[in-house]
Amino acid sequence: MFESVTLSKAGCLKGELRPPPDKSISHRAVFISSIANGTSYVKNFLSARDPEATLNAFKALGVDITERKNELVIVGRDLKGLKEPADVIDCMNSGTTMRLLLGVLSGCSFFSVLTGDSSLRNRPMARVTQPLRLMKAEFMGREDGRYPPIAVKGGKLTGITYKMPISSAQVKSSLLLAGLNAEGRTTVIESVKSRDHTERMLKTFGANISVDGLRIKIDGTNKLTGSEITVPGDISSAAFFLAGAALVAGSEVVVKSVGLNKTRTGFLDALNNMGANAAVHIDGDHRDEPQGDICVKYIDGLKAITLGRSDIPALIDEFPILCVLGLRAHGVTEVRGAEELRVKESDRIKAMVGELRKMGAVIEEYPDGVAIEGPQELHGAAVESHGDHRIAMALSIASLIAKGQTIISGISSVEISYPGFFENLRRLIV
Ligand code: S3P
Repeated sequence: MFESVTLSKAGCLKGELRPPPDKSISHRAVFISSIANGTSYVKNFLSARDPEATLNAFKALGVDITERKNELVIVGRDLKGLKEPADVIDCMNSGTTMRLLLGVLSGCSFFSVLTGDSSLRNRPMARVTQPLRLMKAEFMGREDGRYPPIAVKGGKLTGITYKMPISSAQVKSSLLLAGLNAEGRTTVIESVKSRDHTERMLKTFGANISVDGLRIKIDGTNKLTGSEITVPGDISSAAFFLAGAALVAGSEVVVKSVGLNKTRTGFLDALNNMGANAAVHIDGDHRDEPQGDICVKYIDGLKAITLGRSDIPALIDEFPILCVLGLRAHGVTEVRGAEELRVKESDRIKAMVGELRKMGAVIEEYPDGVAIEGPQELHGAAVESHGDHRIAMALSIASLIAKGQTIISGISSVEISYPGFFENLRRLIV
């Protein structure tokens, strides 16, 4: 793929598309199938760099995975059957791979080392190593296990009750996966509910897990049984085109077969609160994860919205594209309580503020968010992705409403979650 792309103001976006399979659910399908007993079939798996890091990790741990056309066949080895990897496991750019693996490997009685690219090596891991140590896991790593590379000496774990100081599905999932292999019961208490794909999938595989509001309990005596998973489309990838339709005059876009799990649809609520009527049609025949089609038509006059801490988990990955919507909405759009964005694949607050300012935007930056008074006009500029897929895609949509040409560099990062992004964008531009 080329490293940069030049985009100009678009006439409008029209048509239908199928977004790529959900990244979070694809990771979990490999994790849970690999530690189950028996064969699992994963349909519509996301073939992109992040989930591939998870696939390669489990292959290195001895799991037999066959990649057929649009289906993975995974012969689970049970948690006890994973084998010591012969080399360091490279989680590449994927925080989900590393954090969930730390939970799994904590309970495996062998030695392993996890590393990643320069972005991942600077992302905080104490949020998982600290509670896992309370379960008696042993780690060595940079800054005492705060940053990768991290070495794990797995062994016997003890269940704990843990109140999470931050809302994070990665931390929750890591602890639940460790809890599967611990003596006694593990209880995780969330501050704000985060995406619950792990809980749902563990149930599908027969785990003894119970969810009561923000409190999730799992027993260490669990045996998982192989199952069949069909991954829905990724709402976080669809968000770019839904926003594009709301922003570019005359547009109408239908996104098909998108995951509509309530812990992920905060962006649709935000769009609707801005006045962009996102029409949702839910499919009747989904099993564990709801899915359906979404249609967004351009309307003149988006309205500003205010988002606070309790709103963030359900739209955490949609912040970059929300900033672009805020630029066009009438009034002050404010996002607060979102300091977690500073430790994503890039510092997403700094990256969006800096790049959109290059395009003429006036944005106020806070430690935990932004304020944007709209509507504002943008002009084309040379901007960069900071190696972050979601920044690359958000800037691409911004360039469709900017005067003149925008050159975006670092676009190969879209391969992390949405390899066909630019093909889909070109197809929809009229
Ligand atoms: C993810 C959870 C979120 C999200 C990330 C994927 C997951 O991170 O930002 O892209 O698959 O569990 P946190 O759990 O750290 O908020």
